[in-house]
Amino acid sequence: MSIADVGTEALREHVATQLRRARDRSVELTDAVDDDDLVRQHSKLMSPLVWDLAHIGSQEELWLVRDVGGREPLRADIDDLYDAFQHPRADRPALPLLGPGEARGYVREVRDKVFDVLEHSPLEGRRLETNGFAFGMIVQHEQQHDETMLATHQLRVGPPVLSAPPPPPAAAGADALAGREVLVPGGPFTMGTSADPWALDNERPAHEVHVPAFAIDAAPVTNARYAAFVDDGGYDQPRWWSEEGWRHRTEAGLTAPMHWRRDGGGWTYTRFGRTSPLVPDEPVVHVCFHEAAAFARWAGRRLPTEAEWEKAARYDPATGRSRRYPWGDQEPTPGLANLGQRHLAPAPVGAYPDGVSPLGVHQLIGDVWEWTDTDFAAYPGFSAFPYREYSEVFFGPSYKVLRGGSFGTDPAACRGTFRNWDYPIRRQIFSGFRCARDPLPGEVD
Ligand SMILES: [Fe+2]
Repeated sequence: MSIADVGTEALREHVATQLRRARDRSVELTDAVDDDDLVRQHSKLMSPLVWDLAHIGSQEELWLVRDVGGREPLRADIDDLYDAFQHPRADRPALPLLGPGEARGYVREVRDKVFDVLEHSPLEGRRLETNGFAFGMIVQHEQQHDETMLATHQLRVGPPVLSAPPPPPAAAGADALAGREVLVPGGPFTMGTSADPWALDNERPAHEVHVPAFAIDAAPVTNARYAAFVDDGGYDQPRWWSEEGWRHRTEAGLTAPMHWRRDGGGWTYTRFGRTSPLVPDEPVVHVCFHEAAAFARWAGRRLPTEAEWEKAARYDPATGRSRRYPWGDQEPTPGLANLGQRHLAPAPVGAYPDGVSPLGVHQLIGDVWEWTDTDFAAYPGFSAFPYREYSEVFFGPSYKVLRGGSFGTDPAACRGTFRNWDYPIRRQIFSGFRCARDPLPGEVD
């Protein structure tokens, strides 16, 4: 059942639960390290963890305490410090930020007020409040920053501080999945959504897209397949790379995915402070768009377009409709997808047979974000809501779309329609990919 149909009190309870889940995760990620680590910048690409924490509180104060609640500001004096548009990440450590104790006190104080606002909101009327949208937006915002903080943990140097059980193994018979493709017949499907109450502006509205026939990998590209590209000299041959990609590969000195190290004839990988041999059947992670595109060309393939990815994930040929998730409309469960930092790694290919899409494509949701070949752009009929800086200012050729969420993405911030975007050179995020290709003559009618 959608949250649009549950009734006001059940919705209020749902919002409260989601707010608490997000906060538990923020606390876990920030309590895991000492104060020195909280204020340190672990990479120029990331904010200090203490910035993310207070920024979470600041956005929550702006939208829920002040706008929805109509309450007085708690800390109008710090609005500017935590405005992501005012200060690039590299400059944030030099700002007069709240210290760890102050930041924790601030987010607690904001949250107390928000629970009071939630008690009094009709959760209908204004568009911002209808179906609890503003609360849902803030839950997703906190979870997105939690994933960013998890990426900061991966860049942190030092002994491990996070732990989680390993992901499930591949199901029996999954061996052949790594090289298998699914053929998708050409035709229209419904992309995006107008119905999902907490979908963000860039996922809207639902619209019909005609997608010509294509073939797509049944699973994400694995470490073993990617290592074959590296070992074949893939990083030394400009012919596999776009001009822009080769320039970046040269300037940045890329030789393998981030966190890989040569070890004799094989590879090791360092994850959250622990080094181990590369797991062959795990999806490759921490590659940039250019690396993904170069692999695809080496393999005689290409990256899927965003529409191809979404059709593979949501289109049900039996009914002609698009599902919310590959497995149906119901929320993710631990048996369906690797989401929510339950595990600190992508699961091997074939680990989630119940999460397969109607077309037979595996692990589209969870494990690794998947690069697509599409620039981040507005859908036809797009209108910015609730503010231009959420999505609209990022539309254009600078950003590529990533889909599907990673093991570090919370289910609250992941749907078949959810769109992520980043610069094509970024790889500190939990990014992998799968390949696609045009059909051969006679392969489809
Ligand atoms: Fe933010």
